[in-house]
Amino acid sequence: MAQTPSIAEEKTSSAVSSSKSITLRIARFNPQKDSDTSFMEFKVPVEKWTTVLEAILDVKKHFDHSVAVRYSCRQATCGSCGMVINGKPRLACFTKISELNSDTVTVEPMHNFPIIRDLAVRFDRLFNSHHKVKPYLIRDDTDVSSDTKEILQSPEELEQFIQFSNCIKCGLCNSACPTMATDSSFVGPQALAQAYRYVADSRDKGKDNRLKIIDESHGIWRCHFAGSCSQVCPKGVDPAMGIQLLRGYMLGFRS
Ligand code: SF4
Ligand code: FES
Repeated sequence: MAQTPSIAEEKTSSAVSSSKSITLRIARFNPQKDSDTSFMEFKVPVEKWTTVLEAILDVKKHFDHSVAVRYSCRQATCGSCGMVINGKPRLACFTKISELNSDTVTVEPMHNFPIIRDLAVRFDRLFNSHHKVKPYLIRDDTDVSSDTKEILQSPEELEQFIQFSNCIKCGLCNSACPTMATDSSFVGPQALAQAYRYVADSRDKGKDNRLKIIDESHGIWRCHFAGSCSQVCPKGVDPAMGIQLLRGYMLGFRS
């Protein structure tokens, strides 16, 4: 009976241009039975275009299917595959191994999220905080006679918030945030950025309500403006700027 090829053998035989391999170190932790995180190492052949997610899936396919990792779209859209890669929160499907410039790639679960197992984390805190800031348009008109009723907005009005609409709720900003690490109730940069997104939308009428929600002890004033949230966002959202602009509303500099 033919033996299952090792990952290295299979890549060599099926991908003639494969020229390099790296060591992939994967954090393993099962809170049901482990007291600490351990790392497993795998030699993985890579191409110029191989992503970290593809390398992890190769390991699952050929070496250890029990590695827990969350992913879906593989195109930086669903926000599922966030993890800490060589010390920085990134999307695994959007990070090419070649751009890391390292022969060793270490993957760990996102910081500031409870670990389900290995690289998979719980998103309850992020989604609860997101929900708390009412991430939808609030209107005070009662005319809902037409589902297609237009509420016009100028390009300048759209410009006020459009970048914040690109958030895919991946949680990388919350993972990078030092305040998230020290305050387990902090609402977090993701939710604050979304609060700004709706406060700044000219069609929205929920500003006062939303500002009241984030004006509490674990709310907007807990941000120390480290700015790491904005540095790691894969979609060009700038939560740190959103938080500062929100403070402008709260202090009466913006209306
Ligand atoms: S603001 Fe950026 S980093 Fe934060 S959840 Fe949204 S897309 Fe991810
Ligand atoms: S798998 Fe969807 S963002 Fe990476």
